Amino acid sequence: MIDLHKDQANLVNISLLVFALLSTGIAVAPALHLQDNNAPLPGMPKMTAQERRGLAVYVAEGCMGCHTQQVRNIEMDKTWGARPSIPSDYYYSKQRMNVWQQSPSLLGSERTGPDLTNVGQRQASEAWQMLHLYDPRMVVKGSVMPRYGWLFQTVDSAAVQSGDVVLPVTGEQLGAPGKKVVATQKAKDLVAYLLSLKQAPLPSGVQADAFLPSPGADGKPLPAAAVEAGLPDGGAIFSQVCAACHQPDAKGLPGAFPALAGSPIVNEESPAKMIDIVLGGYDARPEFGPMPPQAANLSDAEITAVINHVRSSFGNNAPPATQEAVRSQRAVIAPETIAE
Ligand code: HEC
Ligand code: HEC
Repeated sequence: MIDLHKDQANLVNISLLVFALLSTGIAVAPALHLQDNNAPLPGMPKMTAQERRGLAVYVAEGCMGCHTQQVRNIEMDKTWGARPSIPSDYYYSKQRMNVWQQSPSLLGSERTGPDLTNVGQRQASEAWQMLHLYDPRMVVKGSVMPRYGWLFQTVDSAAVQSGDVVLPVTGEQLGAPGKKVVATQKAKDLVAYLLSLKQAPLPSGVQADAFLPSPGADGKPLPAAAVEAGLPDGGAIFSQVCAACHQPDAKGLPGAFPALAGSPIVNEESPAKMIDIVLGGYDARPEFGPMPPQAANLSDAEITAVINHVRSSFGNNAPPATQEAVRSQRAVIAPETIAE
């Protein structure tokens, strides 16, 4: 028998052995297993240095205190991503921060704000992201997200340099005529990080998990007209996708997003131009930022429904678009988004 009271060398050796076995079993083997079974997705881009700095700002500002980055496989998370998250989404081993640190997966657990897994896809407008960080209530009335004003600087108009990101905030709004608000490097980095948050496409042939009905999902009936036309609820799509920029009352935000209420484009007899704008985005006027294309986010039925909702609400009165028209315009503008 080994006498551990007298034989200290054996005491140390046995402890070391137990330590090594446990470490292998609990840490090393599972890590290797994960590494072998969850290769990064082929379409997953490498983080740029700027996005990485933005990630550090995201961590430092404690954004995950209110935001998750995990799309669960339940119906209520369907608006946050094209598919439920899979382990490979978090595989960043090629993207280590340095030799010792992996870039953290900021899954989060609090859902005070929307899930951000796919926010770069859902809300791809830099102008919107900047304004929203500067003051969420300027773009989302009643938002409870705090302002991140310290990521911005108020400067004299004369001091604005080319390359500066200038916010559409007027001198009167600031109570300081002649001043402008510009983004600091931290804000630019953070927005670059937010815009990089996109679900990578699954390799062809791989089937995504299905979204299961959430417990207690509200089965609110659709408006009768939509059901008759076999279309989804255009009002709900407007609230989820368009209202963030064009505002819930469709009156827009001066200097940033145009009004859809009373817009001549919306009220044109032919819906063709409006379909083009929603499918392919729009960047026509210097006083507004660009509108991101929605072709990849919304199906033909969803686009038809939301267009018809806008054309018949907010005091607008224009004939509806057909799904057929949206389908054929998609083939011209965004053929890459047609599902086989
Ligand atoms: C106190 C909780 C809270 C904190 C902290 C917070 N947010 Fe939010 N966030 C919200 C809420 C609530 C919303 C939904 C209302 C809105 O859009 O403003 C939101 C919305 C967002 C959106 C828009 C998402 C979408 O789908 O339209 C983004 C992007 C965002 N937050 C980023 C951030 C970033 C970056 C930080 C850290 C700098 C942060 N949030 C900190 C609560 C929070
Ligand atoms: C990220 C912000 C954003 C989102 C989301 C967005 N838009 Fe826009 N939209 C804009 C901006 C900015 C313009 C103006 C672009 C320009 O003129 O340069 C615009 C222009 C338009 C116009 C032209 C209106 C006019 O009178 O000039 C229509 C129509 C429109 N959007 C419809 C929609 C619909 C429908 C949705 C939802 C499916 C939507 N938009 C979502 C930002 C957005």
